Amino acid sequence: MDVEITVTELTPDLVSTVVRLCVRALDLPEDAAEAAAIVDVLWPRAAADRPVAALGAYRDADLVGVLLCSVSSSDPSTGHVDLVAVLPDQRRRGVGRTLLARAERVLAERGVTEVLLAGNPPYYAWPGIDVRYTAAVCTALALGYRQDRTAWNMTADLSYDGSPALRSTEAAERRLADQGITVRRAVPADLPALTAFARSAFGGTWDGELAGSVGREGAGCHLAERAGEVLGFAAYGSSRPSWFGPMGTAPAAEGSGIGGVLLRRCLRDQRAAGLDRAQIGWVGPVPFYSGSASARIERVFFLYRRTLHVD
Ligand SMILES: CC(C)(COP(=O)(O)OP(=O)(O)OC[C@H]1O[C@@H](n2cnc3c(N)ncnc32)[C@H](O)[C@@H]1OP(=O)(O)O)[C@@H](O)C(=O)NCCC(=O)NCCS
Repeated sequence: MDVEITVTELTPDLVSTVVRLCVRALDLPEDAAEAAAIVDVLWPRAAADRPVAALGAYRDADLVGVLLCSVSSSDPSTGHVDLVAVLPDQRRRGVGRTLLARAERVLAERGVTEVLLAGNPPYYAWPGIDVRYTAAVCTALALGYRQDRTAWNMTADLSYDGSPALRSTEAAERRLADQGITVRRAVPADLPALTAFARSAFGGTWDGELAGSVGREGAGCHLAERAGEVLGFAAYGSSRPSWFGPMGTAPAAEGSGIGGVLLRRCLRDQRAAGLDRAQIGWVGPVPFYSGSASARIERVFFLYRRTLHVD
């Protein structure tokens, strides 16, 4: 192993340096293209809400690798490695190993006893390690992490006018209007009602993603309501501009077509923003997204965990 590496905690003035490294070190083009948004959500935005550490690995004066990690806001004994990336020409020389070892120490000092190589919602860039980052999968296994879950995204094709993902919502909206249900874009004044709805219907894990979607540049949210009561919402762009989610329909209103309408309204916005595909992130109901937007399962992620042994 190469020992000429020093790891230091990075300060936020280095955000753009870290972005430049990630553009070169994230091998999947769709991730490299969103490197700025990824670093922004995982570092400055997340740090406003939970403990975050940014580590840089230097060879002499050159930054050759970075790692962003955080403590779970719901469980302070759980830490997350949110991103690790090493320049292609610097790999297999122990940089990743050194960064992960330091992250484990930093997290342990903050009371963490278990580290996950998995997204820490609401500020996350991936649910886990994309299986195509095979070197990262190998690194996780080499460092004693154990795979515990799988997650997947679905891709909605926004590349052409007739795509099923962009199917008109007009007729369905008319049917909903006949039942007294209105569908519209959410505005910041809707946040309290949306958050209250998401909490009562689904348990409250989406506050941050709603706040990150409604009225924020490159993001958005649509809602359905009847007599001022929220019946469903769909949001996009909170974690990454090309990512859709979360969404939810009140259990009592399921099957009314609200979900498909809200989904396709968001996808339409994303297409208008210039995207040729959207990632439906960390998917639950595959048949719903397949049926409503002909989305297909594409990105698959392995999630890992390791218990820290404190001596
Ligand atoms: C994953 C990544 C950070 C690893 O960085 P690295 O500096 O090359 O890792 P190390 O040199 O410390 O490797 C540690 C161990 O992991 C294993 N490993 C790493 N890359 C491997 C590969 N390509 N094939 C097989 N094993 C590998 C080895 O056991 C290695 O130890 P060894 O070299 O002594 O055999 C780097 O490959 C990378 O930046 N990939 C692209 C970005 C990425 O995938 N990030 C994760 C998703 S956010």
